[in-house]
Amino acid sequence: MTLQFRPLCYALGAEVTGIDIRSPIAPDIFSEIYQAFLKYSALLFRGTPVTREQHIAFSRYFGEVDNNDRALRIRHPDYHEIQIITSKIKTTSDPTAFAGQVWHSDQSYSTVPAKATLLHALQVPTIGGDTMVANMYLAYESLSATMQKIVEGLHAVHFGGKARLDNSTPERAAETARQNLPTAHPLVQVHPETGRKSLFVGGKVKQIVGMHPDESTMLLKFLCEHAARSQFMYRHQWQKDDVLVWDNRCTNHIGLGDYDRSQQRNIDRTTVIGLPGGYPYTGSVDYQGPRL
Ligand code: SIN
Repeated sequence: MTLQFRPLCYALGAEVTGIDIRSPIAPDIFSEIYQAFLKYSALLFRGTPVTREQHIAFSRYFGEVDNNDRALRIRHPDYHEIQIITSKIKTTSDPTAFAGQVWHSDQSYSTVPAKATLLHALQVPTIGGDTMVANMYLAYESLSATMQKIVEGLHAVHFGGKARLDNSTPERAAETARQNLPTAHPLVQVHPETGRKSLFVGGKVKQIVGMHPDESTMLLKFLCEHAARSQFMYRHQWQKDDVLVWDNRCTNHIGLGDYDRSQQRNIDRTTVIGLPGGYPYTGSVDYQGPRL
């Protein structure tokens, strides 16, 4: 088998063939895969029926895997490294309130944002429920030089929202509230491995530090709309057992809720821990951010 990478679209992503990620991977082979991960920002391994152990083992090649201590509600009871993304637990009738329905980079609302996310599709609807991934290098690079200068000096406040709090016991509620304090990050990030700059905005960004709410609203609306332009995106139409990994340090993603709710969409997710960054933001958060 020869390892091959086939670009999935203009903006980002490549399909990887010639490797079985269910078996141990030799260091030189994984090094090629990792270089492709840095180059394409997202890699697809089509139709690979990994067990949960194999999913976790493959994720560990990318770094330390989160055991989801902060996400008890959605972590697998036996495999703590796995978060269960399922249509089953959605109880609200508000069609805008489904999990993942805003563009974001995983755990941007914390001081340890995620490095990589690996999804394995267990069950997918016949139509819809795609995941879109956007290239935030291109979002930054396509701004005018003047706008690049403006955003480079700014920090933005990310907040996971109350829905992230685990209210199962008063102690957990207090602890998760403490862990989910709003966090400020520079609006422009420098990727620790590629050295390229990217735009760090999305639906979890609530305001720009030091700006009047009206100013912040206007700039965030522009930046979030800009970051969601179709030319920066890859849209993944799931097939059962697809494994998709993306680099949260230079991409945003969104899971789409456009599918028949009588059907199941069940996806296992692992998250690879990133480098510490940002700082807890103690000022007031006046603005709720654009819902894009
Ligand atoms: C996520 O936001 O991590 C999951 C995206 C999806 O459900 O497609």
